[in-house]
Amino acid sequence: MINPYFLMSMLYASLAVLAALDASLASWGFVQWFNGLRWLRVHLITLGVLAEIIFGVAPALTAIRHGLPKPRIRWDIWLTLNGGLAILLIGIPLVNGVLIFTGGTLIFVATLLLMKQLADLRGALPDEQARAEGPRAGQMFYLMGLAYLLLGIIVGTGLWIGWPEALRIKVPIEVHIHANNWGFMSLVFAGLLVDLYPRFAQRPLAWPRSLTAIFWMMTAGALLLVIGPWVKNEMFSVPGIILHLSATFWLLLNAVKPLWGDRLTRQPGFWHLITSYVWIVTPVLVAPLILLKVPGFPGAGIEQNAPQALVYGWVLQFGYALLPYLFTRLFLPKEEARLGGSWFSLIAAHVGGILLWASIFITDYQAILHGAAYAFWAVSLIPVAWQLWSIARAGMARLDELALAD
Ligand code: HEM
Repeated sequence: MINPYFLMSMLYASLAVLAALDASLASWGFVQWFNGLRWLRVHLITLGVLAEIIFGVAPALTAIRHGLPKPRIRWDIWLTLNGGLAILLIGIPLVNGVLIFTGGTLIFVATLLLMKQLADLRGALPDEQARAEGPRAGQMFYLMGLAYLLLGIIVGTGLWIGWPEALRIKVPIEVHIHANNWGFMSLVFAGLLVDLYPRFAQRPLAWPRSLTAIFWMMTAGALLLVIGPWVKNEMFSVPGIILHLSATFWLLLNAVKPLWGDRLTRQPGFWHLITSYVWIVTPVLVAPLILLKVPGFPGAGIEQNAPQALVYGWVLQFGYALLPYLFTRLFLPKEEARLGGSWFSLIAAHVGGILLWASIFITDYQAILHGAAYAFWAVSLIPVAWQLWSIARAGMARLDELALAD
């Protein structure tokens, strides 16, 4: 049985190529800016590609951890997630309150159902390593990450229908971005790394017992980063960033140390995975300059563009490494699965990030640089989207052959 979340993720990856191309051509003045594409560009990747995969793999990975049989596909969750996403894809560009409320609510319900499914998965602890990492290693990261997604959805859905005022949120868009990026994505990515690492690296993390501390540091860091813009007080955000980034650094060190000098470090997928985190550090490095309102420093430009650099530089690249790996494991289980991407996609994705940041500072060439950034991101996406289609096609052909042979 093919996992339907993977097919949707592949579909949205292809749409993400088109959206990045459109941003590039519009910056260069070849096509008109299409109102609403700004939302689509970010959310095709975050919700369309990554959230689909997370919903698709989290239950199976948790079941493996607990030594339980693979869970059935829950069509109720699949339908609420994808129904909600389709409605938002129409509702947000049109800024239609009823559609936005309906879409947001459906995704909220899908998230609650997934959390319940994950929480219900409890089994005997299978081995020594799982015991060392704590019984719920990946699972606890998923559950907390999804709790932050619930918060992100409430604020995101309410953005255009007046909820932030009711909730007394001072800077709502930042609360939305922080809950989703520092809360949802960071924690769930950490969970995926914890669950997948022993298999793709063929060894345990350097210090499995550190995971509980990393989990709480990330959780507390994300909470402070949400409270910061909620009450507009940097006294919360600054310690939040320090806690969160320290935990992230510790986690990456856990993954890199055992592999140092190994052949895996000569594969582009490994570098996609690790260096994607450069782009979550960049906004943090310039944040003090915005806070101090350094004269001539383009604070507004950064606030407008940094979220996209974060999504294309970090979220997307993390996906480049993991998606082809997961696709191979699902569609072609007899083949050796490797982290995805290529040297080309690695270089193109990073050049895209550098150009986007350059477009913020070099105002004379802003449009050209902005367009070039999206052009690089689009060309970095094409081979990976193609890789996913090829793996899925080969896998489905194999299933057809099996069905004919029955
Ligand atoms: C039901 C789910 C969601 C809803 C209803 C939603 C809604 C919104 C809305 C209305 C905006 C403002 C767009 C604008 O100002 O042009 C926005 C921006 C944003 N959202 Fe979401 N969102 C959702 C999920 C997510 C997730 C899961 C992520 C990331 C993990 C995310 C990351 C972002 C980012 C980074 C921006 C800023 C985009 C920019 O400034 O270009 N959102 N979202």
